Amino acid sequence: MLQTEEKNIMVSMPRIGDPAPAFDAITTQGNIRFPEDYKGKWIILFSHPADFTPVCTSEFMTFAKMEPEFTRLNTQLVGLSVDGLYSHIAWLRTIKDKIEFRGMKNVEVKFPLIEDISMNIAAKYGMIQPNESTTKAVRAVFFIDPKGIIRAVIYYPLSLGRNFKELKRVLIGLQTADKHAIALPADWQPGEDVIVPPANSCGVAADRMAGKDKDVYCKDWFFCMKPLPKEELELA
Ligand code: BEZ
Repeated sequence: MLQTEEKNIMVSMPRIGDPAPAFDAITTQGNIRFPEDYKGKWIILFSHPADFTPVCTSEFMTFAKMEPEFTRLNTQLVGLSVDGLYSHIAWLRTIKDKIEFRGMKNVEVKFPLIEDISMNIAAKYGMIQPNESTTKAVRAVFFIDPKGIIRAVIYYPLSLGRNFKELKRVLIGLQTADKHAIALPADWQPGEDVIVPPANSCGVAADRMAGKDKDVYCKDWFFCMKPLPKEELELA
């Protein structure tokens, strides 16, 4: 826990591997108990600095447009800002009624958006980063697995909108790594070959190097790759 001088906010920074801090909240879709209500699903919990701001608007429209893709990946989107519920409702209505961006219009945001006027939830999740802003959350993204464990975290500053292809890639990467007990190389995209973890015995390593392990090919004893089964390529 850090205590910031400016506003006396108790800031904690949940890390990869930690259980997602629990909280109850009011949202645009009713009350939620987090992460309990979403057990068995992946969750992308993300914060935005403020309602009625342009970068956040472009992000919400993009999240809303991509929501079916996240649903197909068994993933619930949950947004948060330190604005109140009526601000959220008015902003989302304005987006639907008036805003057109990159060919998207009449966009309805159907996933829950948390009100956090007290900043308690934002502080619990390290979303208030006082040297960036003491009054607004940064653009945080928490990837939480079906057991409620934080698996990846990305922070963006106020001035930079998120890369949604990357958010989807991270989610698919985490799911793929879990499912196949493999790792993923730099710039990996769904459908590309994956990294096989180092063999844990000399015999296995030798077999791999000798090409005995079907599908696995090695550049050296520590760098082996393989394709995934064809049906997996549809995940993207
Ligand atoms: C925006 O979403 O446009 C924004 C929000 C806070 C600070 C700067 C930009």
